[in-house]
Amino acid sequence: MTDFFNSIINIKDADFGYLKDVIYQKTGIFLAPHKKIMLQSRLNIRLRTLGIKNFEDYVVKLKTDKVFFQKEILEIINRITTNKTDFFRENHHFDFLKNTYFPSLEKSKAGGIKKLRIWCSASSTGEEPYSIAITVHEYFSQKSNWDIKIFASDIDTNVLATAEKGVYKDERLATMRKDLVLKYFDILKVEGSSREYQAKSFLKSMIHFQKINLLESPYPFSDKMDIIFCRNVIIYFDKPTQKKLFSQMEKIMTSEGLLIIGHSETLFGITDSFKFLGHTIYQKKT
Ligand SMILES: C[S@@+](CC[C@H](N)C(=O)[O-])C[C@H]1O[C@@H](n2cnc3c(N)ncnc32)[C@H](O)[C@@H]1O
Repeated sequence: MTDFFNSIINIKDADFGYLKDVIYQKTGIFLAPHKKIMLQSRLNIRLRTLGIKNFEDYVVKLKTDKVFFQKEILEIINRITTNKTDFFRENHHFDFLKNTYFPSLEKSKAGGIKKLRIWCSASSTGEEPYSIAITVHEYFSQKSNWDIKIFASDIDTNVLATAEKGVYKDERLATMRKDLVLKYFDILKVEGSSREYQAKSFLKSMIHFQKINLLESPYPFSDKMDIIFCRNVIIYFDKPTQKKLFSQMEKIMTSEGLLIIGHSETLFGITDSFKFLGHTIYQKKT
């Protein structure tokens, strides 16, 4: 017991204050005072790996060594992001695309080559962009003259690498219909009763992965987006950051483009440039 407690490196308020400010400036993630212990525990292993014995020394090094800071800030970001996600999470969004939005888009984009651009802007370990790609493929694969691109991005380079690999244990795929699993994933490994799957290459090739920090605009796209998924990320941002974010997103959306946010999030009091369609789905006003 004593050893365990002795081994925890405690963070003092001043060091928490510095780290919370740096994290806010770099990511928009706002850490309230009660998140001190969470930050302490997520950085404990990091300090041990670096051989740094307390947070005071860590903070001094961050403040005084620019090269260390540039490298270390990526490590900090990768440790403090919350990456919870699922395939077909909040499934009503995918139903809405399939049953309502895609059919109306087909009518409004009649004639010639029709473009569809989708950005999954906080894609975490990939479950969300693969769910989008499957929904798109199910609807559009038999239709001609569509030029479709799906972009997926995140600030956390570890989760992005996982997303690009597209390898998932069977329990991660439990929220997906069995026929879709068989159609879109290959079995990679079988160990006893558990299996590991990998997204098929045609599915992977539908998605362009890249690192994007939502705080850093203008965003690097040449085409306007018809749909932006920005789900379960603004909960970590304060209101001024949310306001800036959505004013930047609005600029890169087509007129009547869709903005989809997470179940506990709202644009109320943040922006009135979007019409509420229900179920945390918004449409850019013309
Ligand atoms: C809880 S996950 C949500 C994943 C997915 N959108 C979903 O709803 O299932 C939040 C993601 O936002 C990412 N994130 C946090 N701050 C970010 C920022 N400033 N720019 C881009 N991504 C960010 C995190 O790395 C994390 O992967």
